[in-house]
Amino acid sequence: MTERNTYQDRKGTKVEPYRIKVVEPIPVTTREQREQALRRVHYNLFGLRADEVTVDLLTDSGTGALSAAQWAAGFAGDESYAGSRSFHRFRDVVRDLTSYPCVLPVHQGRAAERILFSSLLAPGQITLGNTHFDTTRANVELIGCRAVDLPCAEARDLDSDERFKGNIDLRRLEEALRGPDARRIGLVVMTLTSNGGAGQPVSMDNLARAAALCRGHGVPLFLDAARFAENAWLVTRHEAAYRDMSPRQVAERAFRLADGCLMSAKKDGIAHIGGFLGLRDPALAERCELLLIATEGFPTYGGLAGRDLEMVAQGLVEVTDPRYLRSRAETARHLARLVRDAGVDIVEPPGLHALYLNAGRLLPHIAAHRFPGHALACQLYLEGGIRSVELGSLYLGEEDENGEPVTAAPCELVRLALPRRTYGLSHLNHVGETLAAVAKARERIPGYRLVERPALLRHFRCKLEPVPWTGP
Ligand code: F0G
Repeated sequence: MTERNTYQDRKGTKVEPYRIKVVEPIPVTTREQREQALRRVHYNLFGLRADEVTVDLLTDSGTGALSAAQWAAGFAGDESYAGSRSFHRFRDVVRDLTSYPCVLPVHQGRAAERILFSSLLAPGQITLGNTHFDTTRANVELIGCRAVDLPCAEARDLDSDERFKGNIDLRRLEEALRGPDARRIGLVVMTLTSNGGAGQPVSMDNLARAAALCRGHGVPLFLDAARFAENAWLVTRHEAAYRDMSPRQVAERAFRLADGCLMSAKKDGIAHIGGFLGLRDPALAERCELLLIATEGFPTYGGLAGRDLEMVAQGLVEVTDPRYLRSRAETARHLARLVRDAGVDIVEPPGLHALYLNAGRLLPHIAAHRFPGHALACQLYLEGGIRSVELGSLYLGEEDENGEPVTAAPCELVRLALPRRTYGLSHLNHVGETLAAVAKARERIPGYRLVERPALLRHFRCKLEPVPWTGP
């Protein structure tokens, strides 16, 4: 049977292509315990102990379940400081997938960002992207450069069914590459799928055109490939020219369009830790390698154990399995149906790694500076022990010292991230039921005010308190 048959002809099959061999108990708490826990952490869900959370949808990063083959590979890990056998397997797997000759392992994606940007950019330069993820932006800014997002116009409509809302705006990219600041543009980064853009995918057509523009202007193009396999799956589903290809073939083509990639293997490496930098240019790789040795580790381990290298290598092979990707897409669609049935809008269409709830629309009585997304996230925890993350004005907005709003986020969202192979349909049904109960009593959900706000990355460490509900 060809690979095509295994994923094209089994449309009716919705079973997960794996079964459970190892289980981990999850806590079930009372409402009183959850109320106490929330008070203790000053209404910041990042402060909770994980054993106070029943279904943890905070992130899909490093939270996946390893396969038996990954654990077995881990046991075979070679922990030699230099020249480890595990590094060679890792490098071969990455080279085979990406075609990049230079492969530098790192402990996670943001280390790859720091090393690449420090080696390639000079202060005052500009990076362009479909939408930089927040650590990517932070690492650009930390070296005195500016990160500019150029999402396509379709991304602005949260409700439309457009398939590739993760695309870059090609017209604005070309204008920037020809414009007065063109000489300051140090690189372009395309994030597949666009996590900062509600998990929406990038089409191969868009990527190829962006690559041609970059080549034409002599600007290097990098992929932030954290979710490359999920992007490839959506391409095979929705981009006509790629319908007969396997996700693996699409992924290989995507990597070949770029000069290199930044990879967090905690997502589509289905590993608990790890990442890499893949590069075509040996001179750039040499500069990166020096920084790697100084800050991560010798180039044959880069901050990882031999067993981690093995587990990532095996994960990279498993992640493009069409049966796995089909089941992951089905999981997201199932949850999307439950959420819509609960009367809650999501950013359409649902991607694979997360659903983004439109909290602003659900809670119109809560002003942006009272954080409707945060209010919904707290309520999901109180009602059902579910942890999610706000992506709205708590994350992106600004207030003055008196708490008066200065800027609000463009939309007030809550992300329900889906760890890989971790939760089953009953867990998702619980999320759906909880959300339905929350939505039913939406008018009573209080807003929040900040009582302590760190200057940087405030959503991780800030303290809040509910603003009592005073009725309509
Ligand atoms: N790029 C993207 C698109 C990401 O989503 C992340 C992490 C990174 C880079 C950084 O990688 O965590 O391995 O250092 N995203 C996580 C999330 C944190 O929850 O979405 P990292």
